[in-house]
Amino acid sequence: MRRVYVDYAATTPVDPRVFEAMKPFFMESFGNASSVNTSGVTARKAIEEARAKIAQFMNADSPEELIFTGSATESNNLVLKGYAFKHGKAKTHIAVSTIEHDCILNAAKWLKQMGYKVDFIPVDQYGLIDMNVLERAIKAGANLVSVIHGNNEIGTIEPIQEISELCHENNAIFHTDAAQSFGKVPIDVKRMGIDMMTINAHKLYGPKGVGALYIRKGIELDPLLHGGGHEFGLRSSTENVPGIVGFAKAVELRKDEMKPEAGRLTRLRDKLIKGTLEIPDSHLNGHPTKRLPNNANFRFAYIEGEAIVLGLDMEGIEASSGSACASKTELPSHVLLAIGLKPEEARGSLRISLGKYNTPEDIDYILQVLPKVVGRLREMSPLYTKASQKQ
Ligand SMILES: Cc1ncc(COP(=O)(O)O)c(C=O)c1O
Repeated sequence: MRRVYVDYAATTPVDPRVFEAMKPFFMESFGNASSVNTSGVTARKAIEEARAKIAQFMNADSPEELIFTGSATESNNLVLKGYAFKHGKAKTHIAVSTIEHDCILNAAKWLKQMGYKVDFIPVDQYGLIDMNVLERAIKAGANLVSVIHGNNEIGTIEPIQEISELCHENNAIFHTDAAQSFGKVPIDVKRMGIDMMTINAHKLYGPKGVGALYIRKGIELDPLLHGGGHEFGLRSSTENVPGIVGFAKAVELRKDEMKPEAGRLTRLRDKLIKGTLEIPDSHLNGHPTKRLPNNANFRFAYIEGEAIVLGLDMEGIEASSGSACASKTELPSHVLLAIGLKPEEARGSLRISLGKYNTPEDIDYILQVLPKVVGRLREMSPLYTKASQKQ
């Protein structure tokens, strides 16, 4: 059976060139980067080279503005909690969008429960943030704003520069979660006015378990992990040298590959969207054009997304409904509810996220299988039967 993996937003395979770059750091150059012996110095050098490469790719002023963490989840938690703990309840006022990844949203909700001031800013039907509500929150004192760059479920790309300008006019700090967009679309932290930015490696053909946080010079956070003072005192724990080296290699490869890849994926994505929308009662979630090059998210009336995913899987197509993390819960996706869908509409969604090993033939195969799966499920759906009897 043909196997078509289209869940690249959940995670990506490690690029063989990344794996090769990591290999020596498992068994030969395995030293602890804090040791002053030869192995330690080799490990330290590899980390600092990796830091410089990634910092340069995002156009940071200096490599010291980037710290390595264990994941994007950790980086995001560090932003919100690190800021709150550093500044205290009286001087912390956070604003986040309602379509953030759970690791921002749940950290923000927890801080709110702990007594910090937190606002949740709504989005429109496409997932674009409501700039008027955000402006009111900032004018009312919000001093840390966190808005996701490319949404992990519906792919919508937020107007980052406009948000950062609004923040800076009012002395607020701007953080963006770029786990889905970094290396897929151009990001220049200086030009875009980003003060802090979360990224990770496993969405970019790098290894799992390594992330980073860009923190513009001058911004102060408290660490979440106290210990030996690694990563400029912000993230104690022995560094994951192979992971960090792999992360930098994955980023380095994006230099030449990002642009052509984005163009190719956009063409595949648009072909997929056009073909899928020919299925009756199907809709695209997210913005038609302001979206990640590799993301397509649909909803199909009368049937459950989870059932579509299983139906596709039986035909060798690996997609997902909503985000990989949220699909473990029975609840409809908070992102789809935030763009105004009813719970039953939000349950009928399918995310197809493309990546570098997808071909035009994969899209043809999906477009051949998907209508059949949707049709089969609808035949079994009492909701569909009822609706067709009415017509
Ligand atoms: C936008 C976004 N933020 C954060 C995360 C969490 O990333 P990690 O798996 O590195 O913790 C993800 C991954 O699903 C994501 O898509």
